[in-house]
Amino acid sequence: MERTKQNAPIGVFDSGFGGLTVVKELMRQLPGEDLVYFGDTARVPYGTKSKESIIRFSVENTEVLLKQNVKMVVVACNSSASYALEVLKNKYDIPIIGVIDPGAKKATQVSRNKRIGVIATSATVNSYSYDKAIKYFDSSVKIFSQACPLFVPLVEEGWAHKRIAVDLAEEYLKGMKKSGVDALILGCTHYPLLKNVLKKVMGKKVYLVDSAKEVAGEVKNVLLKEGLSAKQGQGKYRFLISDRPQHFQIIARKFLGRPIQVELVNDR
Ligand code: DGL
Repeated sequence: MERTKQNAPIGVFDSGFGGLTVVKELMRQLPGEDLVYFGDTARVPYGTKSKESIIRFSVENTEVLLKQNVKMVVVACNSSASYALEVLKNKYDIPIIGVIDPGAKKATQVSRNKRIGVIATSATVNSYSYDKAIKYFDSSVKIFSQACPLFVPLVEEGWAHKRIAVDLAEEYLKGMKKSGVDALILGCTHYPLLKNVLKKVMGKKVYLVDSAKEVAGEVKNVLLKEGLSAKQGQGKYRFLISDRPQHFQIIARKFLGRPIQVELVNDR
């Protein structure tokens, strides 16, 4: 069967495993879409890298996906979206969607007291990407940001449900709790997996904005608007990575709750 533009896959990239939280939401909200995921496991983490490196990696990751004839690219990594989204949008003529704006928009919609918290990697916090996006949607909001670099290795170690996760969150979020925010953006791919812990620490009254969930909604809107939605049927999924396929397979099972096949791409 000839592949029409509508039937082309959606490309998703991340620095490693974390973007699977976005994939999971895309599978749930858009079950008919084919997905090609690229995780740059050879160079993860991005959250501690410089702007220049993050932009270069993001361009290379997009090229990997374009070779798969994707109809759209979702920049699932918050650190990449923070620094490289505009570069990618200017460079390529297919829709490129990042995780920052959808999460920022949702936070401004749910916050009643106009005090919004952002937790993310150091790269994302230092880029002020969420601050700029939140101010774009509502300039009267007061923003409180906190980098939580140890959350990523914690989740990857599979310790999101251990006591140490609560202790770490208590420590990182001391100031956040005092700030009186009523919405907290989970501005990193891994943080949706810490939702229960964060809820416990921040209390039930604070709305946790899951940027993975929000970006999937945005993808749906853009596909409809551009006439790019896939025809009916069950989507097919491919997972490409740049290093350690077996390790990825084990972690992916945890993220997605199902086994997957992984392909190694190391010809960049
Ligand atoms: N994917 C990254 C992000 O959302 C987290 C992991 C990393 O630092 O590469 O910022």
